[in-house]
Amino acid sequence: MAWGGWSLINESDRNYSLSIPYTKLQKLARMLMWAARFALLVMVLGGAVRATQSGLACPDWPLCFSQPVPFLDMQIFMEWFHRLAAGLFGFSILYIVGFCLSNSELRRRTATFMTLTVLLLAWQVMLGALTVLELLDAKIVSGHLINAVLLFSILRIGRAHVEALVRSSSALDAQVIPNDVKWIAKGLTVLVFGQICLGGVISSNNAGLICPEFPKCFGMWWPSLNWLVDVQMLHRFNAFAVLAVAVGLSIRTRYLALPYCVSKQIKQLPYLIMIQVVLGIWNVVFALPVWASIAHLAVGLLVYRASLSAVCEAWVVEQRKAQTESCIISTATLSVQPQ
Ligand code: HEM
Repeated sequence: MAWGGWSLINESDRNYSLSIPYTKLQKLARMLMWAARFALLVMVLGGAVRATQSGLACPDWPLCFSQPVPFLDMQIFMEWFHRLAAGLFGFSILYIVGFCLSNSELRRRTATFMTLTVLLLAWQVMLGALTVLELLDAKIVSGHLINAVLLFSILRIGRAHVEALVRSSSALDAQVIPNDVKWIAKGLTVLVFGQICLGGVISSNNAGLICPEFPKCFGMWWPSLNWLVDVQMLHRFNAFAVLAVAVGLSIRTRYLALPYCVSKQIKQLPYLIMIQVVLGIWNVVFALPVWASIAHLAVGLLVYRASLSAVCEAWVVEQRKAQTESCIISTATLSVQPQ
């Protein structure tokens, strides 16, 4: 995605006679879509490990009790299965990188994407190892979640870049997406990302019940008792800011004929966030039941996915429109060339 002239995939020489086979690009877009979904699944499995307090069930790394498949009780199984899924995810990313390297033009165009993805993956593996070796240090556990969200984001944005090259434009693509809609969607994505970071800090510090009541905390709206109480209260208030922005975006776009791929994401956001708020309150009131703790992470990630997807899909539509326009202009220029 081009921000301030910087682009994840090199598009400076975008043209209509790509030397990359069309089917290869389509396959790459599909692989990125599945890799991003796989990333979400591995994150939720990680949340299940934390919620069932299985984080140190395997005391060594990368093997578990020095065995590839250890004697399994439930907690060991949770931790081992998370590692297995994370390992498979890592190999799927390496396969995608190998796929990009297999074509010289694809290699050149995806150099930035591949570098960032491999760096984030390497960092993720290292944080996973440190989580065990440093006995669930809170900074490392929250860093592990935040880095995973960044890895998911790069896969989703990378997919948008590939789709901008392959997706055929439809009549709906001709619709203009107003600038304010694009900016609100971007702002919402940043707010949700911040909310996930705050949530990660709360859970990794075991501070989910630091304020044992809702909506107030020890009978006050913001008792500055310590920094974790501040984080918990910020997480609560920010949730309502996120909900307000999502509802505002939904109302703003209600009567706009947006492309379906964009409006679908925007419409589901307020509902997902309301479910998330209920789950958050449930966690506080019922003292973090395991299912609610896992569900709160899963729905939080779905909120982020929907918000980021709205931004990415709007960008893809805009790129397709720009390409179609420049194609029409160059065809028109060719047709008026003196003979
Ligand atoms: C937009 C809304 C929200 C989002 C996206 C969100 C996201 C998250 C995330 C990603 C986590 C970390 C989960 C983990 O590491 O397993 C978390 C933790 C938490 N959130 Fe939220 N949250 C939202 C709203 C709320 C609300 C309204 C409350 C109400 C008090 C709340 C209470 C909590 C609590 C108590 C935890 C710690 C859970 C634990 O230790 O298992 N959240 N949140």
